[in-house]
Amino acid sequence: MANKFYITTPIYYVNASPHIGHSYTNIAADALARYHRRILGGSNVWFLTGTDEHGQKIKKASDDAGLTEIEFVDNVVTQFQDLWKKLEISNDDFIRTTQSRHIKTVQRALEIVYGKGDIYEDKYEGWYCTPCETFWPRTQISDNMCPDCRRSLEKISETNYFFKLSKYQDWLIQYIKDTDNNPERIYYIQPASRRNEVLGFLENNKLEDLCISRPKERLSWGIELPFSAKHVTYVWFDALVNYISAVGEFDKQDIYRSVWWDKDTKVVHLLGKDILRHHAVYWPIMLHALGIRQPDTIFAHGWWMINEDKMSKSRGNAVNPAEMVDKFGIDVYRYFLLRDVPFGLDGNFSEESIVKRFNGDLANDLGNLIYRTLTMVEKYYSAKIPDLDIYKTKFDVSGENIKNKLQNLNKEVQASLNWNDDFSLALEKIWEVIALTNKYVEETKPWNLAKESKDEQLQAFIRLLVDAIRIAGAELAPFMPKTAEAVLLQLGGLEAKKGGPLFPRIETEKK
Ligand code: MSP
Repeated sequence: MANKFYITTPIYYVNASPHIGHSYTNIAADALARYHRRILGGSNVWFLTGTDEHGQKIKKASDDAGLTEIEFVDNVVTQFQDLWKKLEISNDDFIRTTQSRHIKTVQRALEIVYGKGDIYEDKYEGWYCTPCETFWPRTQISDNMCPDCRRSLEKISETNYFFKLSKYQDWLIQYIKDTDNNPERIYYIQPASRRNEVLGFLENNKLEDLCISRPKERLSWGIELPFSAKHVTYVWFDALVNYISAVGEFDKQDIYRSVWWDKDTKVVHLLGKDILRHHAVYWPIMLHALGIRQPDTIFAHGWWMINEDKMSKSRGNAVNPAEMVDKFGIDVYRYFLLRDVPFGLDGNFSEESIVKRFNGDLANDLGNLIYRTLTMVEKYYSAKIPDLDIYKTKFDVSGENIKNKLQNLNKEVQASLNWNDDFSLALEKIWEVIALTNKYVEETKPWNLAKESKDEQLQAFIRLLVDAIRIAGAELAPFMPKTAEAVLLQLGGLEAKKGGPLFPRIETEKK
């Protein structure tokens, strides 16, 4: 059983400012990192994010901005770093592909694979789309237009270097199947639908070798190939290596060494479905060719859309996460993204849906439970939390049911997160307890207990509410760190400390 946990996000292109899609992966990775730190201890978890700074897209964006590449990327990188701070992202490291530690590892990896005979030189002829940086095979184009962006294609013929993906196709198919039955992994590629998609693709298509170079005369902004001064590395061969360049090195015998990429670590890559093939086909084969073990899980989540449409800078509909945080608060934004859509599926983003979640789950359910409990502790016990053990106390059926749920909550949250990264389900389990407890207040009518001087019952009842909030609050910590802290402050000690409501309702327009 792994006792360390290494989690990564994609490294983001710095050709434009971050939007909510980027923040989604980082918030999800942050919740998993925080959750594992609690179980394994902080020093046994490593959380990496960063930026992808080479390639045509970045070159073009810097040219458009009238800056040198490095000036341009230095500027955009800080936007990402500032946003992660604002969202309380607890990454342990931040890798940039322009850093020397990364460049060195990419070049070494290329040398090793080249030395093994898995990279060869060949003439390349094809139809090329410059803005998309993609070569299209004849079979996929009907006119001279790019099938993706509909701009015109150029016919190009040049010498390039190719990585033998095809040689490892059968190995990869077998590897994916073999890991299906491994209880430590469940599926190597997740969710299961994505595993089936990758396997289906591999079983029905012959993999073509991957062109991993670009001639410098066409693109100079990249890492030079160690075996050809006329070429730079294709941006994906460069970018994927960040996952190992940030946490380790090749030794003199070409063996990769890392404390975060060894047999005692569970290695998880989170990414969006748009880059599944790069992570579930190219990357496993690159690692295999390098003699490095595979990650444990490659999880591809869905996309956030705006009015069912793709979000992008060019469509002008990209939502700025910082604005959402200013408007609703960090935890509300984090909660919404993790709760509203099961991880893996697409979701539709709108401010109305945030307000709905806010008023329902946060103001009415959680906020109300905390507020009414604090009020009662103050009113009946002058803010002293009744001192008793709920597990040694007998309650009525509803109270016993809540006790039972509280005892199992941690296990249920763990089960939802451990293998399926199902944040939405984990939060649903927490909210089940919150809803039951709120219902219990209405059922019990504590004001009557007080009137009838049923003090023993009232004390037990209030202590049950306090414990329910404490336990739910502790489980919330990976998802909503600030809220968990506030709960601890208000109800964590022997005395209740009442502040204002945590989530005052947002008034929507009256009909
Ligand atoms: N640089 C590459 C990744 C290299 S990883 C070795 C790249 N960068 S990107 O800036 O385009 O960001 C890609 C990632 O951002 C997606 O995989 C996904 O994690 C996230 N998202 C971008 N737009 C998104 C949505 N609309 N919705 C959800 N996530 C999305 O590709």
